Amino acid sequence: MRSFSSSAVNVALLAANVAAFPHLAMDGLTAPLAADVAYKQLLQRQSTTNPQGGAPLPLTPPPFDAASQLINVAGAHAFTAPGSGDARGECPGLNALANHNYLPHNGIATIDQFVSATTEVFGMGADLALFLATYGAVVDGSGTSWSISGGPHVGIGGSHGNYETDSSPLKGDLYQYGSNSKLILEQFHELYDMQPDAATANYNLDVLRTFRNQRFQESIDKNPLFVYGPFAGMLVSQAAFTFIYRFMANHSAEYPEGVLNKDVLKSFMSISGPETNLVWTPGHEQIPNNWYRRNTADAYTIPYFNTDLLYFTASNPQLALVGCNEGKVDTYQHIDAATLSNGAYTAAQAAANPICFATEFALAELPGLTGLSLLSGLLGSLTSALGSVTKNLGCKAIGSVNTTALALCPGFTLYGGPTAAVAPGVIQS
Ligand code: HEM
Ligand SMILES: *[C@@H]1O[C@H](CO)[C@@H](O)[C@H](O)[C@H]1NC(C)=O
Ligand SMILES: *[C@@H]1O[C@H](CO)[C@@H](O)[C@H](O)[C@H]1NC(C)=O
Repeated sequence: MRSFSSSAVNVALLAANVAAFPHLAMDGLTAPLAADVAYKQLLQRQSTTNPQGGAPLPLTPPPFDAASQLINVAGAHAFTAPGSGDARGECPGLNALANHNYLPHNGIATIDQFVSATTEVFGMGADLALFLATYGAVVDGSGTSWSISGGPHVGIGGSHGNYETDSSPLKGDLYQYGSNSKLILEQFHELYDMQPDAATANYNLDVLRTFRNQRFQESIDKNPLFVYGPFAGMLVSQAAFTFIYRFMANHSAEYPEGVLNKDVLKSFMSISGPETNLVWTPGHEQIPNNWYRRNTADAYTIPYFNTDLLYFTASNPQLALVGCNEGKVDTYQHIDAATLSNGAYTAAQAAANPICFATEFALAELPGLTGLSLLSGLLGSLTSALGSVTKNLGCKAIGSVNTTALALCPGFTLYGGPTAAVAPGVIQS
């Protein structure tokens, strides 16, 4: 309690955290979050009602403004299927933006274009958009632009293990299916069938948390080369789940916090056909007609994502620990955060603030990962984007990383293409 005692905001944060994550109440590492202005604004809107099941935010309904939240899908922004020369990859949000010409239709865009499109069409916080887009450009692209498909150093499709990762919601694990961008219909059904009644279906954070935990265990049980790394696993992998509800839900005066029903989920995931015969069409992700994004006053920022991430890890501490299978299914081992960070973080500290650990780890690992000097212009833009994240969250720095322990994980490679050999011993189902 000691580190939270001063202001009303801190008391509110403590109350919210104690309710959602009792085990975190005593952990000083969560205290710096209270310093973040955006987080304070979120906390000020909290009350005791909770329209989204157990999900932590928003506890009071955000504003709804039909005119600014309705997304134009006509004229220049009408759905246009990708042609043979257009890049489409594993991210349904970016594919949909390109299909509606909110990103260049060929799927290759600059950092600025990614930031404008994701903030304007989906209500992503500018902090999160800049962080994700800059990381993509520097680690997987040319430094200033990148492809939403692509190979190593071209786009996210070629970034297995450093951005694209195992245990995704709907896309298969690379070494399990030989592709990191193939949608596995069994995985879609797993999620889809969790809400049997179409009239009331809502794929909210409660549902996605359950699905996330199932998918995690499935990778352990079926993918001998499963790797859950510090950045791509602890951070990106959770985003792939929270983004489904936080960005795809339809907003309305009645449900300003958003409802994600079956039809809207299918449209954004490029799934069509009747329930008994669902079909996936690669790259045809579509923004539905009459779809309303989240309000800009309720933008999905990094602190907001952090609360969702802790909501996930509260249900399964494994999600906040690095680990991998050792070449056979069900050989999952944890890798100590203290070893990886040369003692900068204990495992408990990393688990209490996974965004800090993941981002600081990425920052320290970047020169090795990219082959660029920290002082180079390209890496400079990324380190400043990541640095502003860790500064706002009050993160403890990691001076240097020790990735030797990751040798335990045969699936750990810094770069991999969008296709690969299926590993011996996998289970495909
Ligand atoms: C600049 C912004 C963005 C970047 C850089 C980005 C990048 C990525 C990457 C690297 C992955 C692969 C993760 C994995 O392997 O599990 C991914 C997956 C995903 N992204 Fe995005 N994304 C962005 C915006 C969005 C938005 C706005 C949405 C929602 C509308 C979204 C929804 C998803 C979902 C649902 C997945 C998981 C796909 C699946 O396996 O089912 N992303 N994204
Ligand atoms: C979004 O919600 C509004 C209000 O309920 C509704 O009119 C509209 O059809 C919904 N959009 C979609 C795509 O379901
Ligand atoms: C790096 O980690 C390994 C264990 O994975 C350990 O044996 C080694 O001593 C560490 N290196 C340094 C420089 O601490």
